[in-house]
Amino acid sequence: MKEIVIGFLGCGNVGGGVWELLQGFAPEIAHRDQLSVRVKKILVRDVNKARSCSVPRELLTTVPEDVLCDPEITLVAEFMGGEQPATEYLLRALQNGKTVVTANKVAVALNWHKLQAAAQANHVGLYYEASVCGAIPIINALMTPLQANRITKLMGIINGTTNYILSRMSAQGESYDAVLQDAQKLGLAEPDPSSDVEGMDAAYKLSIMASLAFHARVPFKAVYREGITRVTAMDIACGKEMGYVLKLLAIAKRDGNTIEVRVHPTFLPQNHPLSSVDGSFNAVYLHGHACQEMMLQGRGAGDMPTASAVVGDILHAAMVDVHVHPTFANQAEPAKELTFTNNWTTKYYIRVSAIDAPGVLSAVAGCFAKENVSIASMMQKGSVEDGRVPLVFITHAASEQAMQAALADMDPAVCRLESMIRVED
Ligand SMILES: NC(=O)c1ccc[n+]([C@@H]2O[C@H](COP(=O)([O-])OP(=O)(O)OC[C@H]3O[C@@H](n4cnc5c(N)ncnc54)[C@H](OP(=O)(O)O)[C@@H]3O)[C@@H](O)[C@H]2O)c1
Repeated sequence: MKEIVIGFLGCGNVGGGVWELLQGFAPEIAHRDQLSVRVKKILVRDVNKARSCSVPRELLTTVPEDVLCDPEITLVAEFMGGEQPATEYLLRALQNGKTVVTANKVAVALNWHKLQAAAQANHVGLYYEASVCGAIPIINALMTPLQANRITKLMGIINGTTNYILSRMSAQGESYDAVLQDAQKLGLAEPDPSSDVEGMDAAYKLSIMASLAFHARVPFKAVYREGITRVTAMDIACGKEMGYVLKLLAIAKRDGNTIEVRVHPTFLPQNHPLSSVDGSFNAVYLHGHACQEMMLQGRGAGDMPTASAVVGDILHAAMVDVHVHPTFANQAEPAKELTFTNNWTTKYYIRVSAIDAPGVLSAVAGCFAKENVSIASMMQKGSVEDGRVPLVFITHAASEQAMQAALADMDPAVCRLESMIRVED
């Protein structure tokens, strides 16, 4: 039987899950793959910390070299998180001839080019399935079975925390603050939720997925980003009445050499496949010229779902003779022929607070018309308060520039913008 000796960097939620999965699954791995996986050393910050997993204390170390420089360890699995020191440790592992499996989207999104170059120079593997969407095999899908496709569109619900918050706001009409506090109590949101609710987490993952989908490096800094902190229960309710569901979507589209990558709250028609992906679930919906529409859905986080992707990578890496890497030029900067645009075309949901007087509607319509933005539907929501009335518009497809120009043209004394949410279908 083949034995592979591995080291862990980190032993928190994901590391503990990987340990338990490897222990519980060992007899099946041995039977199916003729492989035994031995964990030799585990780097942590504090060896005396109480841990919920059954890792023996003698495996723990606070000395990175115990993992990175041990010649018996041929594969390093990283679940420390953060850009540094994780990236430095991963580079050292690769330079020392060890294959790397990582769950760290930040390290991959920001330093992928350095990690891939080190892996290729040292003829070892670099695997990161768990860095995007937990258990969903989207990296593998893009790397292998979808290679024959020209992918033009990819949209994902790729952050479970924000999807949980928006799903509850939508189901029960609760406020953002109330649901966030509850999610923190339930352990579904971090004590500092900013990376999730500001869309950073989704933007890291989108940068990785879009690069693989478009065979071109899509840098993290190219991703336009708006979080969910300003979303109101009122907008969710208005959207619902007009047939839409609100999601934090990660969207990537390619048209020739023009790419748009954006993360922002988005209304989707209620019958869109992504609209029924609720709670902490993740899903990626894409369109390729050969496969056509496709959606992958599953658990995007959690110790065991993430461990499922990590252990899958470990088993694969242990069994292959030749490691495969993306074939595009993986450099920090994107290829010169590509343009990243913030002037995309989409529909818009606009809620305004307008004074209750004759001629106001035509003034608003005039601002839209001046920029060639046409209105598809309109609704008055609620009654007059303080002489103002809430009006909601859904536009036909318009460019972002035209929409922003129309909104800038409105006189707030007559018609004040309350919210603008993009609408996809
Ligand atoms: N949690 C999820 O559901 C999930 C899902 C997909 C991907 N991921 C990714 O997986 C990674 C780990 O997430 P997690 O939730 O498992 O994090 P976590 O629970 O905070 O665990 C981090 C582990 O790394 C160790 N560590 C951190 N910094 C270190 C340093 N400078 N030196 C030595 N050890 C260090 C910690 O040591 P101590 O235990 O001693 O503190 C801990 O064991 C992140 O990149 C995350 O984005 C997580």
